[in-house]
Amino acid sequence: MNEALSRSGLYDRLISDLDATLEGIDDAVAAMATVACLVFERVPGTSFAGFYRRVAPGLLRIGPYQGPLGCLEIPFSRGVCGAAARERATQLVPDVHAFPGHIACDEGARSEIVVPVFDERGEIAAVLDLDSRLPANFDDADRDGLERLVRALARRLTHRPDSALPS
Ligand code: SME
Repeated sequence: MNEALSRSGLYDRLISDLDATLEGIDDAVAAMATVACLVFERVPGTSFAGFYRRVAPGLLRIGPYQGPLGCLEIPFSRGVCGAAARERATQLVPDVHAFPGHIACDEGARSEIVVPVFDERGEIAAVLDLDSRLPANFDDADRDGLERLVRALARRLTHRPDSALPS
């Protein structure tokens, strides 16, 4: 089977399972934790999957994740996560050693993709970060699938009185 097609189908399934799992639950932390778990379990080669939340202007802090211990805080000025937040665009990094300023929370990481999550006003609410210990583990099918996934997630992060995200 074509790898791109198989990954696209994987994200279709992941999004429908996310919606089914979170049915009736209005809770931002539960939603992010569920996404981190589903992605970590199902996207092949993923060694870390989780969120960094915008907790102050220009500052990201660790949120729900799966995998090895993540760095606690990342300014917008640093790393792949900071670039995704600052540029408001997905960062697809086939070789982390070739990315200037990459932050090596996990010395074994070789490739990475970071997708911005926007709130209802179009502001950065968080980024979703996936690492792999394999080179070039992520491609445009992951970019498309993860961008669709975070849009499905964002619908669950808005207008929630119990939201863990900054207002
Ligand atoms: N590599 C990221 C830091 C987060 S860890 O990968 C969990 C970066 O450069 O922003």
